[in-house]
Amino acid sequence: AATDSADQQLASQLGGLTLDKYPNCYPDINPQDIYRSHLTSILAKITGVDPKIIYPALQWTMSLEKGDMTLAIPALRVKGKKPDVLGQEWVEKWPESPLVEKPVPSGAYLPFFFKPGPLVKTLIPTARKMGADFGTNKAHGLKDPSDPSKGTKRVVVEFSSPNIAKPFHAGHLRSTIIGGFLGNLYEAAGWDVVRINYLGDWGKQYGLLAIGFDKYGSEEALAQDPINHLFEVYVKINKAIGEEKEEVAKLQADGKATEAQHLKDNGLDEQARRYFKLMTEGDEKAIALWKRFRELSITRYRATYERLNIRFDEYSGESQVSEEAMGKAAQKMKEMGIAEESDGALLVDFTKHVPGKAGKALEKPIIRKRDGTALYLTRDISELLHRNEKYNFDHMIYVIASQQDLHVKQFFKIVELMGYKDIAAKVQHINFGLVLGMSTRKGTVKFLDDILRDVGEHMHDVMRKNQDKYQQVENPDKVADTLGISAVMVQDQSGKRINNYQFDMDVMCSFEGDTGPYLQYAHARLSSITRKASLSEEDIASADLSLLTEPHAVNLARVLSQWPDVVQNALKTLEPTTILTYLFKMTHSLSSSYDHLRIVGSEPGLMKARMALYDTARLVLNNGMRLLGLSPVDRM
Ligand code: ARG
Repeated sequence: AATDSADQQLASQLGGLTLDKYPNCYPDINPQDIYRSHLTSILAKITGVDPKIIYPALQWTMSLEKGDMTLAIPALRVKGKKPDVLGQEWVEKWPESPLVEKPVPSGAYLPFFFKPGPLVKTLIPTARKMGADFGTNKAHGLKDPSDPSKGTKRVVVEFSSPNIAKPFHAGHLRSTIIGGFLGNLYEAAGWDVVRINYLGDWGKQYGLLAIGFDKYGSEEALAQDPINHLFEVYVKINKAIGEEKEEVAKLQADGKATEAQHLKDNGLDEQARRYFKLMTEGDEKAIALWKRFRELSITRYRATYERLNIRFDEYSGESQVSEEAMGKAAQKMKEMGIAEESDGALLVDFTKHVPGKAGKALEKPIIRKRDGTALYLTRDISELLHRNEKYNFDHMIYVIASQQDLHVKQFFKIVELMGYKDIAAKVQHINFGLVLGMSTRKGTVKFLDDILRDVGEHMHDVMRKNQDKYQQVENPDKVADTLGISAVMVQDQSGKRINNYQFDMDVMCSFEGDTGPYLQYAHARLSSITRKASLSEEDIASADLSLLTEPHAVNLARVLSQWPDVVQNALKTLEPTTILTYLFKMTHSLSSSYDHLRIVGSEPGLMKARMALYDTARLVLNNGMRLLGLSPVDRM
């Protein structure tokens, strides 16, 4: 019944025209689908081709000059005639349409131009009605699109995953930003999203950290700033252990074997090993201290993630993988002949399981050391099996730097070889390149907080350069902070994930070019226009949209109508740049419109209509920015 009324509403917006229904076609929430449906029906009639072939063949164009949609004639697979001949024949049969202009064939293509009138009349009300949801389409996440009562699909996104007491490096930064985006994207597509942070929080180094804390730690400092304090302790104890190693080597070189052995048996390294052993055996005191480190760190991380609009459902970690489960997995691998003993260790020789080059490329990773310790790889295998049970997910994404490509390939392959083909088919590695030159003015980067603080300060300097504007900013510290975060995030999301990029504060903090501050500026300007016009909701809703006839208004509307498609496309590429490239295209179209589409000084009817258009632009920009994890500002 709900769709019936939506259909009726749409039909009335389209002057009585009704649309044929196609799978994955949502004309009431995606204006482009109106045209897709309409064009498919026309083309089916004049070509006799099955609509199932036509519908997906309608493509986007690279730019508006090439039309709003285009058809590659060969895609309809009509035999016997050349594409340009077919195009000519079809165009001759083209009926008068209320929605699209008659196409003029261009080589093997038929470009379609939307008629402006009906476009603004459907786009603007649809966008304004959906508000913050414009661009989302919850159908993608349905288990069964024809029956919503069957529930939604679930995706697990694992991202960020820093190592406690160690620096939060560029790899973690990118994982955090990209993972945050992917979570939002799947949510917009109606999936049930579980966000997991898989901390590096286990291993001998955490035994070492405990010993270091005993020597150099302070309860007070720990409570105040756990992340930095634990790092300090970590650096000190690592220095001590380095000196100890040198000492051992020196003793050995001097022929003092007994002394060297004594130091080895009693030194820091051995103490750390023993301490970690206590931890693995569940020793209460040892566990309690480690747990405190972990929890205090998480509390801190949480606050920082909050600034990026990120919340995790679970703080998992290497420590959370059960020894028993890993034992079982190793046993199974041995029994199945996937893993083999070698020098007391257990390893997987991929050349024996995967033929040819591929097997060689996967190398021979160890899954259990001679002393029985399980490794990073084994933990990942067990953790994956565990998550499968716990969350029964339909899809899982690991957002991990491409430096770990081999590791991820190995563990996905092992899971498959173990017979869990269904699980292996649902996991996906989303990788990304390096950040070059990421250092702050105070030296190399340690933690996420340091990065954000530094960029915020840099941003503040940039803002101060325009004193006139700066004087008007109400809360400059807060604004600089938000803009700084946007600067970092936009720079990170601008290129394809796999590309490396240069961390450059001057470039990212500039108001010129395709930057975070530029997007924020565009948003603040729209908000300011809205405030100044101060029209009521009813005023805007009752606007006569047929007044929007200027080329700038029409072109802006054409770009805005692409937004829901852009989100759908991002679900395919899983690239933040799909969203960003569009937002820059849209804001450029917007900024070239202001002089032509003034609000102040226009007569009331035009004012309302233009305001409705700007309001739609603001919605799209706001929704897009939030999808990327940014916090749009209304003033700056
Ligand atoms: N903590 C790891 C690191 O800093 C990243 C973890 C990635 N996730 C995973 N499931 N292995 O290198």
